[in-house]
Amino acid sequence: MKETVDVTEYAGLIAKALPKGILLNTKNEKFNSMVIGWGGLGTTWSRPTFTVLVRENRYTKAPLDATGEFTISVPLEKPIPLITKVCGVQSGHDVDKVEAAHLTLVEPEVVSVPAIKEYPLTLECKVLYAQPLDLSKLPDDIREKMYPQDVDGSYHGANRDAHTVYVGEIVASYLIK
Ligand SMILES: Cc1cc2nc3c(=O)[nH]c(=O)nc-3n(C[C@H](O)[C@H](O)[C@H](O)COP(=O)(O)O)c2cc1C
Repeated sequence: MKETVDVTEYAGLIAKALPKGILLNTKNEKFNSMVIGWGGLGTTWSRPTFTVLVRENRYTKAPLDATGEFTISVPLEKPIPLITKVCGVQSGHDVDKVEAAHLTLVEPEVVSVPAIKEYPLTLECKVLYAQPLDLSKLPDDIREKMYPQDVDGSYHGANRDAHTVYVGEIVASYLIK
């Protein structure tokens, strides 16, 4: 069962949950979920939005670009360690995260990407705008710390390459009961 919510009433919960990791879910050939710690709830072009930043080498990027849809799943309490470990370290390139993290998928309302029962607060989003970061415009300290160029950039967890920023319009928001 789902209970529709006014997402602004959960702004504080989302802001506190983000640094510990919430989930960005996609589905093209298969469902995949990755932990995100950056991004946020907002109003963009007078629409309710959720913005995410996804690095080039994540499995997540291709299905996000192909479908233009994602769901965000937020725990109401502490994150579940197994979910953080699987979805925040392993890649959809290598594993089926539904099986590995014991995720229970829930049919979505508007988009084609399922929600996750274990993290009940759900935002369904459609991408309005996507833009790779121009690293030259970042403050030097952030660029050097977050995008070191003297490391191996070839594996999915590498931090050398830039993020793409995706602004998603929130088209449904609910709690899974
Ligand atoms: C707490 C935490 C926050 C993270 N935040 C982000 C983020 O905002 N953007 C990003 O691209 N990767 C982030 N990551 C890394 C991805 O979750 C990780 O590389 C994941 O394995 C990618 O999965 P995928 O290859 O299946 O897409 C974060 C990881 C953790 C543990």
